[in-house]
Amino acid sequence: MKTEPNKNLRQFQQVIEIIERNNNDKARLIPILQEVQEAYRYLPPQVLTYIATALNMPVAEVYGVATFYAHFSLEAKGKYVIKVCDGTACHVKGSSRLLDTLNSTLGLNAKKHTTDDMMFTVEAVSCLGACGLAPVMVVNEQVYGEVSAKRCEQILAEIREKENSETVENA
Ligand code: FES
Repeated sequence: MKTEPNKNLRQFQQVIEIIERNNNDKARLIPILQEVQEAYRYLPPQVLTYIATALNMPVAEVYGVATFYAHFSLEAKGKYVIKVCDGTACHVKGSSRLLDTLNSTLGLNAKKHTTDDMMFTVEAVSCLGACGLAPVMVVNEQVYGEVSAKRCEQILAEIREKENSETVENA
């Protein structure tokens, strides 16, 4: 696979800055991982190795922390991470229909969570703490309440439209 040297350099630059902002302090490993995950949307293996070296820690220890917390992901995620709540209230109000709609529209399934173009990741999550709005779906930071399957399709269409217009603008 062809890599883009400038892109890789830029990505490592971000990690270097995050580590420096945290004073190269191994006690701040969790906040460092959180910031890195925000920047990359996941924790790439080569970055975890780099963090371990920079903090003078065993790589296994950094992996141990990264895999212990459910919040961290070692798998690449799409630009839009769609979380469908499957807590009790949302389940009762039909959250599985939302999951089915998203998966079938995006060609995903219980094993494949991210589209090949790295645009969408769909995840079922436990209670998001907004049960009064069930069924609830979150796209990156944006919360959608009382979502129907039709609304789900509209939300995907809105995102695609936005992405297409940005592509045209940048062409
Ligand atoms: S069960 Fe879905 S927000 Fe609580």
